[in-house]
Amino acid sequence: MAAERSGDAVAIAGAARHVCDAMFHRGNSREAVEFATATASRHQRDLVRSSQGLSVLGMLYLKASLAAAHAEHRSDVPGLLEAAGDAAERLGVDGNALWTAFGPTNVSIHRVSALARMHDGADAVAAAAQIEQTGLSALPRERRAAHLVDVARGLTQAGRREEAVTKLLEAEREAPEEVHLPSTDPAACRGPAPTRRRFGRRTLARARRPLWTSRMTDSRVLYLIACAAPPAQRIRTGIEKAQATGWDVCLVLTPSAARWLDEELLELAELTGHPVRTAYKLPQQADVFPSPDALLVAPATFNTINKWAQGIADTLALGLVTEAIGLQLPVVALPYLNQAQAGHPALGRSVDLLRANGVTVLLGGDGFIPHIPKHGNVDAYPWDAALAALS
Ligand SMILES: Cc1cc2nc3c(=O)[nH]c(=O)nc-3n(C[C@H](O)[C@H](O)[C@H](O)COP(=O)(O)O)c2cc1C
Repeated sequence: MAAERSGDAVAIAGAARHVCDAMFHRGNSREAVEFATATASRHQRDLVRSSQGLSVLGMLYLKASLAAAHAEHRSDVPGLLEAAGDAAERLGVDGNALWTAFGPTNVSIHRVSALARMHDGADAVAAAAQIEQTGLSALPRERRAAHLVDVARGLTQAGRREEAVTKLLEAEREAPEEVHLPSTDPAACRGPAPTRRRFGRRTLARARRPLWTSRMTDSRVLYLIACAAPPAQRIRTGIEKAQATGWDVCLVLTPSAARWLDEELLELAELTGHPVRTAYKLPQQADVFPSPDALLVAPATFNTINKWAQGIADTLALGLVTEAIGLQLPVVALPYLNQAQAGHPALGRSVDLLRANGVTVLLGGDGFIPHIPKHGNVDAYPWDAALAALS
């Protein structure tokens, strides 16, 4: 308000950058994008006249690009980064006007961050490789550490777990507070998941172990495939229960589920001892998972069940489960859906088709019973029934 009253474009845009941050941290990504871009375009003409103005203008676009990567505005991300890049080009140097650390390097590290947030791990890693070390060295320590965490996330998504661990340890050396999850102050843990980028002490403790000890097992391999329904947020329960019954669990998420679990991917990779896979690999990339002995689709959504029955394979998750039928591998599906979804005629047809082709669909009876819309209970999700069906 005070900034608006002052009529000073730099002060207004500087304050707007913090408002945008606050919106984003509260999970209002879409509003954050709209607010930042509206402020930037309203004051652009005045802001481009000074280095301070260019810096806050560029930062507004950068904040908007990260928020857009989280909202349904992914297609806006390249344009926002380009607008920030224009401001950086006009500025010409990596500056730190008004403590923004804005300049070409900051644009590059935001590009990496946005790509990692959109699960484009391979592109994030490639973008990171283009950044000059001198620019990175000049950044404030905590920005550098945050960047290393983004690179670690990209590497994990690209299936390069060991390099991810190395980056994470490097980030910890730079700024431990960027990496560790504060354990004593509950207030510090509050806030929606999308903006937290920290990792638990257990992750780092495991990361410090020699890498060759991280998985030496001859257990049977279970591909646990999780779709975007609420039990995905408790996927750790499913993994730990399966591990307790002797399975070596490899976690695959649908792209929608991966968005829900974005901040936990590295921890989940640590828990399973394998990268978390969310997308098809490139043809030239090696397989990162051992071959499966069985597959468990849990939670299985209305969407995935119907696409699976139709033979659609446009995600890695669907590719694996559609092929599993042809390979005659044991496959169990534990749905999670409400009575309205269950009432759609497609669901019954899909379940019948999958059952007729050897898939154990745990719907009804001792399996999952659809709930009244908005009355689901993830605590009652019958993981044990699924594991029993696999044994
Ligand atoms: C908060 C929230 C809860 C949802 N819960 C369910 C659910 O319980 N069951 C379901 O089938 N879909 C649910 N959906 C819809 C799926 O997430 C959506 O259909 C998505 O496209 C599924 O993609 P996937 O099958 O590739 O994971 C939910 C969506 C949201 C945003």
